[in-house]
Amino acid sequence: MLSGQQAQDDAGQYSTAGQRYCIGIVGAGSVGCYLGAYLCQDSALDVKFFGRETMALELAANGLSATSCDHQAYFAQPVAFYSSLNSLIECDVVLLTVKAPALVPMLTQLKRFLRPEVPVVAMQNGIGIGEMLTQDLANPVLRAIVPFNVVKNRAGQFHRATAGNIVWQQSQHTAVNYVISVFNHLQLPVQTTTDITAAEYGKLLLNLNNALNAISNVPLKQQLLDTDCRLLLAMAMQEWLAICSKAKIRPVPYTRLPNAMLPWLLRLPTILFRRLFHHMAAKMLAMDEQAHSSMWDDIQAKKRTEIMFLNGAVVRMGQLYQLPTPVNTLLVEQIKRLESGEAEPLSISEILQQVKLES
Ligand SMILES: NC(=O)c1ccc[n+]([C@@H]2O[C@H](COP(=O)([O-])OP(=O)(O)OC[C@H]3O[C@@H](n4cnc5c(N)ncnc54)[C@H](OP(=O)(O)O)[C@@H]3O)[C@@H](O)[C@H]2O)c1
Repeated sequence: MLSGQQAQDDAGQYSTAGQRYCIGIVGAGSVGCYLGAYLCQDSALDVKFFGRETMALELAANGLSATSCDHQAYFAQPVAFYSSLNSLIECDVVLLTVKAPALVPMLTQLKRFLRPEVPVVAMQNGIGIGEMLTQDLANPVLRAIVPFNVVKNRAGQFHRATAGNIVWQQSQHTAVNYVISVFNHLQLPVQTTTDITAAEYGKLLLNLNNALNAISNVPLKQQLLDTDCRLLLAMAMQEWLAICSKAKIRPVPYTRLPNAMLPWLLRLPTILFRRLFHHMAAKMLAMDEQAHSSMWDDIQAKKRTEIMFLNGAVVRMGQLYQLPTPVNTLLVEQIKRLESGEAEPLSISEILQQVKLES
């Protein structure tokens, strides 16, 4: 584990012009703490974490560490943690790492404390995030897509469970580019792009499963071995791919297979899904026996989910392009039922039956 001074000395060497940047991580949960642990290693960055009091106490007691499947590990203690956003006024760049439904309630405070020239990098999954923020904030808004999963292994320790490069919207902001160079230097690769829409659309293709996992109420591994679940996922993906095609967007692939082949893979009988595509299936099925999607976690915690930025975005875009989205529509309805707790959601087989009846 690289810790404290040694990592700071190493990373600080490529700092430019002796400038020290203050970076705010707003919504320090899994993604924010993981990324923040890397940034704390750099002596040219003053990293401020903004989040809940419970997280402040957790990090004060245990320190903050980021570990990963490729054995990198970074430790930081103490961390500067704030449960109010007042100190945002000092920040030169902000990484927004709250979940999507928390963005709107936070806007008033962002507007109050952020200097208007400060770039804000929104790291949420989903579609429409950048547009929503730009409508209300005077600040330059950039998007970044996190392709890997971060889980909390124990108090203060955030673990990257899968691989992949962060995809980051290209910009001219010196502070933003400095942050990107720190991640790259510390071997958390960031790829910049001028086509962030393609990156967002590609990530959505995979995130369409979050809702299905929450509805099925079984671990991801078990869910992927269920033929009905895979069939519904394949159909949900096809609805999105048809929209992308009509919108003339080529979604970035995040797996070894071309996007267009994912529905085909999912439609295979389970025995073939397991055997023939051993490499990809092995990767998929190597997941923790008990792992669920973050949407399942949100439902269990009785929190609002990101459904309207995921499957809900497919439905919205379908209306825009006049393309049918019956599967994603049904998935949104079931998640809404789960969120409100007012009605039982349909089961996976009932959803499939309804889709077949309607087609
Ligand atoms: N985790 C992953 O593996 C992963 C991977 C790729 C992308 N993403 C995306 O990254 C985003 C963040 O996900 P995450 O898993 O890091 O979420 P998370 O663990 O829930 O972290 C967000 C944190 O922000 C806090 N927060 C919300 N509103 C706040 C406010 N007004 N003031 C202070 N703190 C506030 C939340 O507290 P409360 O919970 O108490 O509200 C939570 O601690 C999501 O859009 C997700 O889709 C996540």
